Amino acid sequence: MTAASLAGLRILVSAGPTYEDIDPARFLGNRSSGKMGFAIAAEAAQRGADVVLVAGPVHLPSPAQVRRVNVRSAAQMLVAVMKGLPCDVYIGAAAVADFTPRSCSPGKIKKQPGQDTLVLELVQTRDILAEVAAHAQRPRLVVGFAAETDNVAGYARGKLQRKRLDLICANQVGVAGTGFESDDNALLVIDADDERALGPAPKRALAGQLLDLIAERLA
Ligand code: PMT
Repeated sequence: MTAASLAGLRILVSAGPTYEDIDPARFLGNRSSGKMGFAIAAEAAQRGADVVLVAGPVHLPSPAQVRRVNVRSAAQMLVAVMKGLPCDVYIGAAAVADFTPRSCSPGKIKKQPGQDTLVLELVQTRDILAEVAAHAQRPRLVVGFAAETDNVAGYARGKLQRKRLDLICANQVGVAGTGFESDDNALLVIDADDERALGPAPKRALAGQLLDLIAERLA
């Protein structure tokens, strides 16, 4: 099968982790390397799409022919993604923090003599994916990811419905060789009526298979 062309489509991809600052020295982050989202952006650009990649803090080179916007926090990612609208397809592969410190201390937090614990107050971040799906300029396709340690398909299906997505790509995290950081992954791509297993395969190959499904849906 020849790879579906994506010429003429504008595709917005988010990738990588977000870092939520606690003080000038410390932050809350996660294990996302950005590899999955960067593979999708690279493959989409190679197939002729006009690609904007909103990237959290990662150590990856920019894919060819991709416009990259670097961000650090979930709040910054929200702004950058909203600036990327309108687009034909939004693919949220980033691991966005669900919670962020209520405030960032201006000075480094010091431990006090005799102090055993430190309580950090966290507040919920805004859900970028759900806001894109509810936006007046909603893309033709809104594709989410779900990183789960258990009940992978069940939790992913819940996110598909709650966030009003067209597709969700569920992947297992917390095991070696798949999900976070690894070069390979396996996806269960779920929509309202169906589900399709992709991989295990290198992330770039999976990106191609996912983009074939997306092109099929747009045709
Ligand atoms: O970056 P790698 O090391 O290659 O790893 C790839 C990956 C495991 C990070 C990727 O395949 C993946 O699963 N990305 C989504 C991770 C995640 O945050 O999943 P979630 O189930 O917590 O979030 C569900 C969806 O909502 C995601 O599309 C996420 O981008 C989005 N979200 C979540 C919270 C929030 N505040 N805003 C969001 O947009």
